[in-house]
Amino acid sequence: MALTMNVNGRAVTVDVPGDMPLLWVLRDTLSLKGTKFGCGIGACGACTVHLGGKPVRSCQTLASKVNAAVTTIEGLSADGSHPLQLAWQDVDVPQCGYCQAGQIMSAAALLATLAKPTDADIDRAMTGNLCRCGTYHRIREAIHRAAEMPKGVPARSTPTARANGAATK
Ligand code: FES
Ligand code: FES
Repeated sequence: MALTMNVNGRAVTVDVPGDMPLLWVLRDTLSLKGTKFGCGIGACGACTVHLGGKPVRSCQTLASKVNAAVTTIEGLSADGSHPLQLAWQDVDVPQCGYCQAGQIMSAAALLATLAKPTDADIDRAMTGNLCRCGTYHRIREAIHRAAEMPKGVPARSTPTARANGAATK
């Protein structure tokens, strides 16, 4: 069936089976490979994207039911300058990296609704995003760091900032 949806600010029309999850439309039809397949049953969060600004598991979202704008990790910023993307680099969060796009999308949805989340807020919002490499403490640190960045100001950190508290692997 032909579907038209807004993905990363662009109207796209795809011709896919009516029961195809959004994840496969993004990855296989639109070649947006940043969104990952992990469990396929809504349990790991690797496939998290935003639907109308809210985090959803794209493996559990039928493309035919999409009725709001979709944002993937590729659409979070035009040039990797979203505060979370900068903070992720500062803190050197990823290990294997597989879960990280989903982690960042969940974190972005959190910061969009809560500018200065507490540890408890972060743990609550991120609880469905699993990381087999155990990067949880660095994820939490990076979210706090992103929350401290002034909005609209290029906030790429300096070597000094790295030295002052960036977590090590
Ligand atoms: S792949 Fe969607 S939640 Fe795991
Ligand atoms: S960084 Fe490897 S699964 Fe999270």
